[in-house]
Amino acid sequence: MTEPQKSPHSLGRRLAAALRRRSLLGPGRLLQLGTSFWASRAFLSAVELGLFSVLARGPLTERQLREALGLHERGARDFFDALVAMGVLKRRRGLYANAADVEVFLDAAKPTYIGGLLEMMATRQYGFWAQLTEGLRTGRPQNETKHGGDLFDALYANPVHLRTFLAAMSSISLGAARGIARKFPWKRYHSFWDVGGAQGSMSAQLALAHAHLTGGVFDLPPVQPLFETYVRSFGLERRLRFQAGDFFRDPLPAADVLIMGHVLHDWDLEQKRYLVRQAYEALPAGGALIVYEAMIDNERRRNLPGLLMSLNMLLETAGGFDFTIADCQRWLKDAGFGRTRALALNRPDTMVIGFK
Ligand SMILES: C[S@@+](CC[C@H](N)C(=O)[O-])C[C@H]1O[C@@H](n2cnc3c(N)ncnc32)[C@H](O)[C@@H]1O
Repeated sequence: MTEPQKSPHSLGRRLAAALRRRSLLGPGRLLQLGTSFWASRAFLSAVELGLFSVLARGPLTERQLREALGLHERGARDFFDALVAMGVLKRRRGLYANAADVEVFLDAAKPTYIGGLLEMMATRQYGFWAQLTEGLRTGRPQNETKHGGDLFDALYANPVHLRTFLAAMSSISLGAARGIARKFPWKRYHSFWDVGGAQGSMSAQLALAHAHLTGGVFDLPPVQPLFETYVRSFGLERRLRFQAGDFFRDPLPAADVLIMGHVLHDWDLEQKRYLVRQAYEALPAGGALIVYEAMIDNERRRNLPGLLMSLNMLLETAGGFDFTIADCQRWLKDAGFGRTRALALNRPDTMVIGFK
């Protein structure tokens, strides 16, 4: 039997009653969710324009800041004041200045700069996310490889993209690198290779924190010159090496510890399992594999950044996806690792360790 149709009047009365009882909070939360990209885009434009690096040299009036950035006067004041309302700028007596965390992390002249990731969001990913609906309908990436080809071939063919992508990887993995340097029992091990380690942010943090460790990055050949410049900037060129290779064609180099960070999520299930098996083969007995990612909670309800990262993989790769902590532990066990352990890092990252 079908439900009798509710009259529009009785529906209106029921909604009004729910609002009075506060079981329905009004549409504010939903409108805020829908418009939150406005704030995100304004912030990313500030990063793209180098606004925070300009203000790191000293506070400026609206006109001075507008002229320094080459902006039209029509939107400039609203743009700057929106950044004030977001809490990333301060305005005192007509002068704009950076908020304290912005001053440390978004001034490109400082070694603490993490804007590489945000620059990539501003210049590449923002456009891909505009095509999320198409990605959801087709299951196809929406980036440079929309019509075929390999992501890393396409990215690395463009020197600007190569540089921005590797800088973005350093920003995204810095927190995890510091956590892994602190939480993994490094005293028991002497050497490591960071497989797909990009320009070496993880390697540098490990070498800085543990003087007895030697290691380096195994990655594709175009990454090597940027690794060398990055590692030299820390004075670590004698302790950290680069081995060029393709992890789907070449055996992985041997060391006490292998690391795969934000690597498995680029690939489909069969490729993920292949890479984990390759790591198991390359490790000595007693060795360990560390996998770190924005791993999804096992119930797939809470880690929103991990779930959104997985959608990002839909847009960026042919078959990649993010996965739960339990998935990762199962793949490691299936590859032969006797014991696994999961440890939370800076949100949203988790590391899973497989002990051989
Ligand atoms: C998403 S990035 C992760 C970088 C870094 N591990 C991090 O957590 O920031 C993936 C890395 O895998 C590397 N990579 C991709 N395909 C590869 C292959 N076939 N062989 C070796 N490295 C590869 C890329 O060059 C890149 O540095």
